[in-house]
Amino acid sequence: MSDMADRARAVVDAHRGDRGALLPVLHGLQAEFGYIDQALLPLVAEELNLSRADVHGVVSFYTDFRGEPAGRTVVKLCRAEACQSVGAERLVAHAEQVLGSKIGQTTADGSVTLEQVFCLGNCALGPAAQVDGRLHGRLDEAALDSIIAEAEAGKA
Ligand code: FES
Repeated sequence: MSDMADRARAVVDAHRGDRGALLPVLHGLQAEFGYIDQALLPLVAEELNLSRADVHGVVSFYTDFRGEPAGRTVVKLCRAEACQSVGAERLVAHAEQVLGSKIGQTTADGSVTLEQVFCLGNCALGPAAQVDGRLHGRLDEAALDSIIAEAEAGKA
């Protein structure tokens, strides 16, 4: 934890003095560790002179912040209206079934984290998803399966 605390302090230091430093610090922590460890929140609160409740509130408000390490492959499925109208929910149900884990969870073997997003700016080409930061459109179940398999194959 102390190495983690030192790294976290370095992130805080990089933004200290900024107005509204909390969000940049939280994004910085997520970039540094891949998630935001709850154990670091008191340190962040203390360093930025905020209450723990404030910091906790912001972390839980923004769904972008992860509370635990992500899987090797991160799959974000769009569930906003335009994608819903062309089958996004079918895709979500399929992904949950194939992976054996729910939206917001990582598979037991740590391979894939499944998340939902609300619009990826790819509405005309829905259903859309982002896999490891790459945007994909006009997806069906088979296309999603092969994109995930390909992403995983690259990491084996
Ligand atoms: S609604 Fe899915 S990309 Fe916009």
